[in-house]
Amino acid sequence: MDKRPIGIMDSGLGGLSVTRVLRDQLPAESVIFVGDQGHFPYGTKTKEQVQRFALAIGEFLVAQQAKLMIIACNTATAAALPLLQQQLPIPVIGVIEPGAIAATKHGYQKIGVIGTESTIKNGAYERTLAKLAPDLTVISQPAQPLVSIVEHGQTGTKKAQQAVDRELAVYDHQQIQALILGCTHFPFLQQEISNKLGDNVRLIDPAFETISQTKDLLTSRGLLSDGRKPAIDLYSTGDVKDLVAGADKWLPDGYTRCQHLDLRED
Ligand code: DGL
Repeated sequence: MDKRPIGIMDSGLGGLSVTRVLRDQLPAESVIFVGDQGHFPYGTKTKEQVQRFALAIGEFLVAQQAKLMIIACNTATAAALPLLQQQLPIPVIGVIEPGAIAATKHGYQKIGVIGTESTIKNGAYERTLAKLAPDLTVISQPAQPLVSIVEHGQTGTKKAQQAVDRELAVYDHQQIQALILGCTHFPFLQQEISNKLGDNVRLIDPAFETISQTKDLLTSRGLLSDGRKPAIDLYSTGDVKDLVAGADKWLPDGYTRCQHLDLRED
């Protein structure tokens, strides 16, 4: 049994879509969540910048005694997963391979992937999917404007629906069977995305497979916690107001504290 917290990071509120699944499936675990709002958005930054931000957060999480780190950000997973796995003394899990595994469980022939500019340019989903299901047709589409809609609390608005309709127009005549939500902000636009694509297109949120892998890893290494009162500590490198608003909306069981974090990367 190991009561040390699980560290989770994202550029902003998107990581809460992974945190809520973790809270649901691993309710005894303490969490330290870092939203890097000070550097938001990641999707338009260079790979080197995102690597620096993610490493600084990983080092902070290790200093806070995290027993495992989840990069709850597709952009940072694509840019920095191998680097963090190499540099940090704890296991590090990303969201892209789990998302690809979840998408290839149902024998689909044609799927879509939406993500940030940087994730789609990186091609990480295509590469992983090609290994898992070489015959699968994948239509990738950057949808960066949707990230700010979520980050700025505009889900459920007409503006959100219009933005989704515009960004996903590429799928209008493609007959995709499923869509990977390849940015952790996007599950919060699930309703708008379903309105656009219809109920026949299955939306794949990589968070579920990510947390299932996290659970397997903690179990196999004897690292699960039996904590009755886990602490959920939230940090924002930007304005805590935005993180508080997101957590109030999307973490149904609440959290313990939300603080500002002044993080300096080299
Ligand atoms: N939520 C992040 C992702 O999964 C990054 C969004 C951004 O900061 O551009 O890619």
